[in-house]
Amino acid sequence: MRGKNGGVSKLLGIDIGTSGCKAIVIDETGRVLGQAHAEYGVSIPQPGWSEQDPELWWEGVQSCLAQLSEWKVDAIGLGGQMHGSVFLDANDKVIRPAILWNDQRTVAECEEINRTIGAAEVKAITGNPPLTGFQLPKLLWLRNHELSNYLRVKSVLLPKDYIRFRLTGGMATDVSDASGTGIFDVPKRTWSNTMMCQLEIDPAFFPKSFESYEVTGETAHGIPMVAGGGDQAAGAVGTGAVVPGVVSVSLGTSGVVFTSLSEPEYDSQGRAHTFCHANGAWHAMSVMLSCAGALAWARNTIFPDLSYAEIGKLAATAPLGANGATFLPYLTGERSPHNDPNARAAFGGLSLATDRASLARAVFEGVTAGLMDGFEVLQSLGAKSDEIRVSGGGAKGEFWVQTVADMFGAPCVKMEAEEGPSMGAAILAGVGIGVWSSVQEAARIVKTKDRFEPSGAEYSEVRARYAHLYGSLREWCGETAS
Ligand code: XUL
Repeated sequence: MRGKNGGVSKLLGIDIGTSGCKAIVIDETGRVLGQAHAEYGVSIPQPGWSEQDPELWWEGVQSCLAQLSEWKVDAIGLGGQMHGSVFLDANDKVIRPAILWNDQRTVAECEEINRTIGAAEVKAITGNPPLTGFQLPKLLWLRNHELSNYLRVKSVLLPKDYIRFRLTGGMATDVSDASGTGIFDVPKRTWSNTMMCQLEIDPAFFPKSFESYEVTGETAHGIPMVAGGGDQAAGAVGTGAVVPGVVSVSLGTSGVVFTSLSEPEYDSQGRAHTFCHANGAWHAMSVMLSCAGALAWARNTIFPDLSYAEIGKLAATAPLGANGATFLPYLTGERSPHNDPNARAAFGGLSLATDRASLARAVFEGVTAGLMDGFEVLQSLGAKSDEIRVSGGGAKGEFWVQTVADMFGAPCVKMEAEEGPSMGAAILAGVGIGVWSSVQEAARIVKTKDRFEPSGAEYSEVRARYAHLYGSLREWCGETAS
């Protein structure tokens, strides 16, 4: 397809992440022409809460667009942190800070949803149990705790869709991100009016949903924008995980193991999510809440003098098993596979043999053990892969990717464009304007690099210790949860 300026099409993907906003411009061969990044912070008003002012995302997007202004793009796609709730009033003004995907305040509201609708029915409609991070329980929390704010609500948007609104003036969402609200009929790919009716929620709160590659509107400069995807579905497009048989692992703030599905199958115990995929089918994923987020915490608190690369190098100097140290990464509770908002992080098994290198290695081993717990659930749904495609900020760390290869017992490859969600959003934009005929066809442009073979390192004892420590602390965490 000819692009605007007589050349091939140029496509912009924007990812509204948790720690920052990333944007990428690619051409239709997948070549990266430009990249931009802007950071922002998360606010933790109380332990277990997590909020962000949507204006930070908007400032981040504007900064990225300014950095990439030399590129005249033909279409835009959006990706973004999922599940967050942006509450807007009748003048389309933000009512309060957005409540994010890793916020745990809504335990009672999840129970309320199951009580009102019935747990089996919720799972049949949404493909998942109600989970604290999802958007619906946050809306109920607002009704239960901030009634005056709730009464002002005219629309509820997901993070990337708020940016769509600022860029195009239109309100819309896509099926993958809508799946993470907890009030979307995942098998039917549409909002659940049944649930809205039973919970007495105004259907007008929610924007129209589109398939991820459909155009929802255009910017003031006439650039078409596609619906895009939640960061995990968009990221899967960016790593080529759009057909069953390709498994991807995202080492971002959250840690995700992801597989495509041809049918909306779900884990009967609700240990992984089943959502609509950006390719017109479905996917399953396990989501751990603190992955690279746990490494960032370790760096800030224990290794402030080291870069991430140096922490990886230090960890590699400790023996497998970290001299007996075990780290549980549940700094913000945990979703997959435990669905335990009260879970907390811990170091266990420390002794005089525990040096800084052991602590560093325990962090990598602990987070990877958490990912592997999720992968086992996906394997029970039939996920298998000849190689694991690894992306996200953590994929920069060689030691970490090698640890994934060893613990998963499968070769891992990195992606040439490491930022999967912005790449995937750009690809979806291309499908939307006809550069490719389908997401599956488009994904052929995705390129891998650097293969890490399993070294034969044996992690079963480390995993057993990890499971034992969580099992021992679970009740205590529940009793002392704050
Ligand atoms: C996915 C999830 C996170 C966020 C932030 O279910 O909660 O991955 O999307 O990245």
